[in-house]
Amino acid sequence: MPTAYPTAAGRVVTFEDALNNCRVANGEQPYVLGDKATMGRLTAYARTLSDGMKMNIKVDGPAALMAYEDGKKTFYARSGQLNFACASCHIDNVGNKLRSEILHMAVGAATHWPVFRGGDTLFTLQSRYELCYDLMRHVAPPQGSEKLNNLEYFHSYLSNGLEMRASVFRK
Ligand code: HEC
Repeated sequence: MPTAYPTAAGRVVTFEDALNNCRVANGEQPYVLGDKATMGRLTAYARTLSDGMKMNIKVDGPAALMAYEDGKKTFYARSGQLNFACASCHIDNVGNKLRSEILHMAVGAATHWPVFRGGDTLFTLQSRYELCYDLMRHVAPPQGSEKLNNLEYFHSYLSNGLEMRASVFRK
């Protein structure tokens, strides 16, 4: 199952959105996106069901292409007080250290969410984006917003062909 995909309505629906849509359809409250105790735990299990499958994000049709291009623009746009883009760190400075951390390459970074940090603290992909927006001294767009969903769509496309392996550990 792709991580994120545009629906017939022309919007990107992330995996978390799709889970919430199921909850609402069953008369339950949607979980708060990024809430570690609910959405974090649910995805920690649900995403492992795709372990070993290859990331396969499709960009079919004009609405999908627009969402993809918008996400790409966000990824490369410099912003915030430090005037960084996602690409400044995760393309241009790969392998360099920021504080004690080695910057990873964006390709392949969308395959293993959520991650556990500090033992049992769960982070969904968009929760990680929030941390990076903090590093950029930029207020993060809300989780589930069109901006972050489009960013996730583009960012996930960069991992196409790679195996998914959910719920890994990070320091
Ligand atoms: C100032 C540098 C910087 C910028 C700009 C930045 N990040 Fe990060 N990001 C980091 C650091 C440091 C880490 C932790 C080390 C690593 O995995 O690269 C990280 C980690 C991540 C991870 C987790 C990778 C993993 O497997 O654990 C993702 C995903 C990510 N960033 C996406 C983004 C996106 C998307 C943007 C733009 C909204 C962004 N980052 C902007 C510094 C940055």
